[in-house]
Amino acid sequence: MLFLRILFAFILIVHVKGAATDSQDCKIPAIYNFGDSNSDTGGISAAFYPAGPPTGETYFGIPTGRGSDGRLIIDFIAETLGLPYLSAYLNSIKANFEHGANFATGGATIRRVNESWFLNGVSPFSLDVQVEQFHQFKRRTTYFYNQAKNKSDRSNLPSPDDFSKALYTIDIGQNDLGVCFRSLTNQQCVATFPDIMKDFATAVQQLYDYGARAFWIHNTGPFGCMPIATTNHPNPKPGFFDELGCRKDQSDVAIEFNKQLKDRIIQLRTQLPHAALTYVDMYAAKHRLISDAKNQGFVDALSYCCGYHKNGVDIWCGNKAIINGTEIKADSCKNPSKVISWDAVHYTEAANHWIANHIINGSFSDPPVAISQACTKSITM
Ligand SMILES: *[C@@H]1O[C@H](CO)[C@@H](O)[C@H](O)[C@H]1NC(C)=O
Ligand SMILES: *[C@@H]1O[C@H](CO)[C@@H](O)[C@H](O)[C@H]1NC(C)=O
Ligand SMILES: *[C@@H]1O[C@H](CO)[C@@H](O)[C@H](O)[C@H]1NC(C)=O
Ligand SMILES: *[C@@H]1O[C@H](CO)[C@@H](O)[C@H](O)[C@H]1NC(C)=O
Repeated sequence: MLFLRILFAFILIVHVKGAATDSQDCKIPAIYNFGDSNSDTGGISAAFYPAGPPTGETYFGIPTGRGSDGRLIIDFIAETLGLPYLSAYLNSIKANFEHGANFATGGATIRRVNESWFLNGVSPFSLDVQVEQFHQFKRRTTYFYNQAKNKSDRSNLPSPDDFSKALYTIDIGQNDLGVCFRSLTNQQCVATFPDIMKDFATAVQQLYDYGARAFWIHNTGPFGCMPIATTNHPNPKPGFFDELGCRKDQSDVAIEFNKQLKDRIIQLRTQLPHAALTYVDMYAAKHRLISDAKNQGFVDALSYCCGYHKNGVDIWCGNKAIINGTEIKADSCKNPSKVISWDAVHYTEAANHWIANHIINGSFSDPPVAISQACTKSITM
């Protein structure tokens, strides 16, 4: 029976209700984003600790709460879909939610952590909280939209009809790994993944129940290739670093995380009959960039532009400290466009642009659809 199913497996491509057009492209009127600093456009900065200069220096000219010198992948996604950059839900200044909202916050995890972590950079706005914020956002904007008497009353509010046609993007998991690496052995970390996947699936199911249909889900990147993971290991054992110089054990845990994430998404496709779930292999895209850095116009793949991380000392981008009697200010490099890592954790605008260009056409996606067609549902029978 199983053999027959595999033998006759085929892929059926249909459009999710409400989003189809004559052309192949879905008309995507809005983006709702969930995640961590990889896609936070100002949430955690608005809520707690505003990011200072030199963040934002390349593109916006001022700090915007993005962990980069410029635009993030989510910004390039918005550009591609012809939509404005997403306002953070938590940002009350000059926010515009007509074409979506961003619930991502730097430091966010899928799984709730206890509050002792909040003092260590983990966000209290975990994925489950972000989903509830979305629910409240939808209820309240719908109420005010329907109350409005004229167009100017409705400005900055999304049309209630757009929620079912919007693209729901998710990029989260990196901090679940980070929290794990700081408190457990790698093996113990992997043992927590089934619970994390359960929470992830619950969040997607909940968004579905609130009307989401088209999902574009990034897996987690090569954790061990973040410069912060590779610095301060002066005498590594053989095999500690892989051929690219990335920390092998941590990247291997990320690969296992992604394997379980992909399996969950495949399960969700059968559980959520009207959803289109696109799984995007961000790990592979980022890994491709890092392994081919020189040919792609970047210098040494594992260097970083801003910050000081040496001899057991970490001075984060934009900060200063006195080391052995000398003041060291962690400023940015001369040419961020040649460097992949912005601050030893996050990517530069140039790297984000490269990654966005390579994922947007679907070449790292399962099913292999471009983002403009992400309402396309694939059913394997
Ligand atoms: C919170 O988590 C930390 C790290 O895992 C642990 O050491 C601590 O005991 C926990 N605190 C509570 C109140 O559970
Ligand atoms: C729109 O309606 C509101 C009352 O709901 C009113 O105060 C406002 O002046 C109106 N604006 C325009 C441009 O008609
Ligand atoms: C400070 O100086 C001592 C002695 O020269 C040296 O061993 C240590 O690595 C220096 N620390 C840093 C952070 O450079
Ligand atoms: C997707 O875009 C990238 C970057 O422009 C290109 O290298 C790749 O060949 C494209 N893939 C497909 C399937 O169009």
